[in-house]
Amino acid sequence: MSVGQGVENAVEAGGFDEAPLRDLLETYRDQRGALIPLLQGTQAVYGYLPEEAMHAIAKTLGEPLSQVFGVATFYAQFRLVPRAKNVVRVCHGTACHVSGAPLVSLEIERNLGIGDGENTEDMMFTIENVACLGACGMAPVMMINERTYGKLSPDSAVKAVKDFRAKEAAENGGGDATAAPAIEDADGGEALDD
Ligand code: FES
Repeated sequence: MSVGQGVENAVEAGGFDEAPLRDLLETYRDQRGALIPLLQGTQAVYGYLPEEAMHAIAKTLGEPLSQVFGVATFYAQFRLVPRAKNVVRVCHGTACHVSGAPLVSLEIERNLGIGDGENTEDMMFTIENVACLGACGMAPVMMINERTYGKLSPDSAVKAVKDFRAKEAAENGGGDATAAPAIEDADGGEALDD
C-alpha cells in the first residue's frame, strides 16, 4: 500500500487536518525505525499525538496500533492530549529538587487543582515537571511559557501563576481573573528575563 493510500484510508475527515501528517509520512516512507521520528514529528506539528494520527501512522507503517500506542505511552516526551494555552514547567533537576522544587510543585498543583501533565478545566494551564531548565544558579526554577522564574518559594510560585493569569485576562479584554481556582497572595519570585 502506498503512503498516500494508507493515510487516505486511515485518516477520517472532519476536525482533523491530515495535510501535515501526509507530508510527514511521505518524508519517512520506506525508512526503517521511522516510528519514533514520526511520532516526534506529529507531536511537533499538532502539539500532541491525535488518535487519528496514530491510526494513520499504524496503518501506513504496517505496525499494529497497539505497538504505536505502546511507544507513545512508554516515552514521557509524548503527549496523548493537547496542552492548554499556557504551560507551567516546574524544574525537578537536581539543583532545583534539593532547593525545594517538590514543595513548589505541590503548591502549584494544589492551587490549580491539577497534577503533572494535566490541564486545568478552562484550558488555561498545563503543568509539566521537567528536567534542568539551565538556570540552576536560580534554583528552584519554573517557566510559564517562555518566561523563567527563579529563587522560588511555594508561595511566590503560586503568586507568579496568579499574576500571569490576571495579566492574560487584562490583555484579553478584562476577562474575569477571579474565576480562576483560588491562588493565595505571596511575595513574587524573581523573573529572570524581564
Ligand atoms: S536543576 Fe533546575 S534549572 Fe537546573
